[in-house]
Order: sequence, then C-alpha cells, then structure tokens
Amino acid sequence: MRIDIITVLPELLKSPFEASILKRALQKGLVEVHFHNLREYTSGNYKQADDYQFGGGAGMVLMIEPIDKCITGLKQQRTYDEVIYMTPDGDTLKQGMANELSLKNNIIILCGHYKGVDQRVRELMVTREISIGDYVLSGGELGAAVLCDALIRLIPGVLNNETSALTDTFQDNLLAPPVYTRPSNYKGMEVPKILLSGNIPKIEEWREEQAWVKTKQRRPDLLE
Ligand code: ADE
Repeated sequence: MRIDIITVLPELLKSPFEASILKRALQKGLVEVHFHNLREYTSGNYKQADDYQFGGGAGMVLMIEPIDKCITGLKQQRTYDEVIYMTPDGDTLKQGMANELSLKNNIIILCGHYKGVDQRVRELMVTREISIGDYVLSGGELGAAVLCDALIRLIPGVLNNETSALTDTFQDNLLAPPVYTRPSNYKGMEVPKILLSGNIPKIEEWREEQAWVKTKQRRPDLLE
C-alpha cells in the first residue's frame, strides 16, 4: 500500500511513523508513506497556500490551485483508489471502514486546515470525506495519523501473532474481553481461575461471555 499525505504541516504528522508498529511496517516495505507540503505547490513569492474566504468571515481557506497541482502530479504517476479529505463533517471513521481501506493499493489523504479547503476541491477531487469523531481538531493532520495507524496495522504481515488484529475490540462488533498477565495474585487481587485452567474451549467461552457483558454495559448500541 502507498499513502500520499498532502498537508501544510508535515512536521505535525511525521513522528507517529517513526515509532513502533508503523515504523516496522515501513521498514518491512509493507507500506510507503509520502508527505507533500502544500506550500511547495504554490505560486508567488510568499508560498501562500491559503486565503481569506469570499463573503467575509473568520478563518482562512486552503486554495484549490496548489491542491490541484499536487493531486494532478500524483495521479500522473499512478492510479489512486481514493482521495480522502479529513474533515469533522465527514463520515465517522469506524473499524469496518478501516478494514475496507486497508485493502486499497494507493490512497491520497488531504489534510484540511483553518476553515478547511475550497468547496470545489471537495466536489472535484475528493472521493471520500472522513472524520475521526465529533470534535474539531486544529487541522486534519492528527486525524490522518489516526486513520493511517488504523489502516496500516491491518495490512497482512504488519502485526505478528502476539498483536493480531482478529481479537481487537470492534472486529466482531464486540468490545474485547479483559486480559491479565503475571502475577496471578497481586496484593490479594486474583486473576479469574478459568484463565489458569488450561481448558481452551472453556476459556474461549468465558472470553465471549465477558465480551458480551462488557459490550452490553458500555456500548449497547453496538449490539443493535
Ligand atoms: N479536522 C478537524 N477536525 C477533524 C476531525 N474531527 N476529523 C478529521 N479531520 C478533522
């Protein structure tokens, strides 16, 4: 998979890709992530990528021209499955969407900033608009990092058996059951006996039941 991220603030985005699972995925060559600084696609001396909005009102808007130049240049080199725009008024990111997007070959992620991008960008170039939740961030960059993390960990070969995504919360519309590790007794707090029994079918049964109980208590909406 190849991900091209278009942003006015690449430095805000780089560190998540320099650690842990994302770093390993890049090193293994399972995913390529490229950052494109929108200012490098601007014309004029000031490298201005944004401007005041027509009609007046607070907040700057990212201009169509540098975005068009950047996206057109990328599309001349390869075919993209999606051009995603990160925005709080997009479709809320869910595990199912992450599963689907992790199967794509090439995607572009455009990060909004200030008041967002010129509406014509959304109409002409964007194929999908994604929000990471009902709150407003100061730009799409952190949302893009969240989206990339959620996608990349699902690419086959990125996670090993110990970190398998199959048992994640949400994978079957259930929250994950509680987990324990040594010691089996900590200051009198005991690990549930069943987990020490070695009886795999019974342990599986217990985990399923716990997942149901937890989901019913915390997220009954997932069971509907
Ligand atoms: N940009 C600003 N807020 C955002 C959000 N909640 N999700 C995605 N991109 C955003």
